Amino acid sequence: MRRTTFPKTGWEVGVIGLGCWGIGGQWGPVDEATAVATVRTALDSGMNFLDTADAYGATPGRSEELVGKALKGRRGDAIVATKVGNYARRAGFPLSYASPLHVTLCCDASLGRLKTDYIDLYQCHIGDLADPTVFLEAFEDLRGQGKIRACGISTVRRDVLERFNRDGHCISCQLDYSLVSRKAEAELLPWCLENRIATILRGPLAMGILSGKYGRETKFEDLLRRSWNEGDGRRAYLEKLEAAERLKFLVRPDRSLAVAALQFALSHPGATVVIPGAKSPEQVRQNTAAGEGALTPEEMEKARAETARFDA
Ligand SMILES: NC(=O)c1ccc[n+]([C@@H]2O[C@H](COP(=O)([O-])OP(=O)(O)OC[C@H]3O[C@@H](n4cnc5c(N)ncnc54)[C@H](OP(=O)(O)O)[C@@H]3O)[C@@H](O)[C@H]2O)c1
Repeated sequence: MRRTTFPKTGWEVGVIGLGCWGIGGQWGPVDEATAVATVRTALDSGMNFLDTADAYGATPGRSEELVGKALKGRRGDAIVATKVGNYARRAGFPLSYASPLHVTLCCDASLGRLKTDYIDLYQCHIGDLADPTVFLEAFEDLRGQGKIRACGISTVRRDVLERFNRDGHCISCQLDYSLVSRKAEAELLPWCLENRIATILRGPLAMGILSGKYGRETKFEDLLRRSWNEGDGRRAYLEKLEAAERLKFLVRPDRSLAVAALQFALSHPGATVVIPGAKSPEQVRQNTAAGEGALTPEEMEKARAETARFDA
């Protein structure tokens, strides 16, 4: 797999990483053996960047626990990124994060679940953070203690990222980018490129739609996608589904639509690593293929024309 480097830290990563939210059970059930095998297959395939969060899992923290189990004896093989800021929010009990102590306590809990004594990349998970002071102070303290190596933020807003990077210590921005979510092209991706902020691209498969495997008749049962069954969620789903249909010209005998979608995301000059949320070793193996090769200029032009309405 092609490799790339994080501009500020020099970390070398495979261009395809693994989003570990799905293995925690909120995107439909995944048994423990499959979850652990998914992460290990990723490491064996050259995906050395793993992204999780303390909030992820059918119970919060389950994704981190599974990553910790998978990393047993292999900690040095991975750059482990996790997040703080949304613990128990989905359950209706958000924490206040009113003091740096809340953040450092969450970090200790993540270290315990991940069964490691350091986190490579600790990301703030609050994308609309107004004042980053609490998080920046906590991250500084944690870096000093050696519990984290670097920090970043997950946000789609440039103003939030700029504030978070006010002392220049932010090394990465995690943001939504895909053929059907291209808003970041206007401002955020160019800003990251100019400011040497690594980008971690989530949503590259539009939560599975760009794999091309869903249809009008698909009914979604899992917590995250069941809103696609009716109302506004259904309308947005159908719009993306139709785009996925139009993009099927990208499929070739040696390239699935999912691989083409991942290669599209990686084609942006500001792209560093893309993190599809695979839930099985088989999905990992398929996604790995996107780490070699690229769409042709003609394919890119046509794909961009077919998805122009998603750039705002
Ligand atoms: N705010 C944040 O920071 C934030 C928000 C969202 C996501 N993330 C991160 O981004 C990661 C990815 O999540 P996402 O929203 O970006 O989802 P995504 O990667 O766009 O889509 C994930 C879904 O795609 C399907 N899939 C994956 N590989 C496939 C393959 N080879 N063939 C067919 N289907 C495949 C699976 O669907 P099925 O379930 O149907 O198998 C999977 O659940 C998460 O795990 C998380 O780490 C972060």
